[in-house]
Amino acid sequence: MSIIIRTETTNDYAEVYNVNFVAFGNREDEAKLVERIRATEQFIPRLSIVAEERGEIVGHLLLSKAEIIEGEKSHEVIVLAPIAVRPDCQQQGVGKQLIHEGINRCKQLGYSIVLLIGHPAYYTKFGFKPARQYGLELIQFEVPDDVFMVCELEEDKLMTIKGELRYPGVFFG
Ligand SMILES: CC(C)(COP(=O)(O)OP(=O)(O)OC[C@H]1O[C@@H](n2cnc3c(N)ncnc32)[C@H](O)[C@@H]1OP(=O)(O)O)[C@@H](O)C(=O)NCCC(=O)NCCS
Repeated sequence: MSIIIRTETTNDYAEVYNVNFVAFGNREDEAKLVERIRATEQFIPRLSIVAEERGEIVGHLLLSKAEIIEGEKSHEVIVLAPIAVRPDCQQQGVGKQLIHEGINRCKQLGYSIVLLIGHPAYYTKFGFKPARQYGLELIQFEVPDDVFMVCELEEDKLMTIKGELRYPGVFFG
């Protein structure tokens, strides 16, 4: 496969919807989540990234803003969700290229950590680690410790950011 990884444009919206729809088993929740996030202040156009092969969108990754609340303090962080690769193109490294590009772009934009809820076996390959052991908490979603994960983009940042991750309201419909 010869894959181009690039920023999503408005012309891609319909295909991105379809990639999310088919990747998540013909379910529209994630495709609709992408549409809702695009309409909020948490959306960063450079962090909506597509994988294109021969003019077709075969993968999509969205990273967007969220907050960690620690008492009176609030830190702006990035959450990864969703990521989708068209089923006929899975297991060929497309997801990996999207995540590497996404993480690099978050670093370039000056963010220090990325958080997510996801399969531990997949995301540990990219440097994600269980988040609660670093004093990070998630209350909005009841998930086991190993699926709430964090990736540090700046060395030792996990020593300084503690508190509760708050997903924006748009994640709840
Ligand atoms: C999860 C998903 C994005 C992975 O994309 P992909 O292009 O198939 O992944 P890659 O080919 O880049 O895989 C990278 C590595 O992860 C492994 N991997 C792929 N899917 C995996 C999974 N579900 N669990 C564990 N490991 C997985 C691959 O074997 C590969 O390992 P390697 O680097 O050691 O060879 C894709 O399977 C998908 O769209 N799934 C449905 C939607 C979904 O569940 N999204 C994630 C939740 S938000």
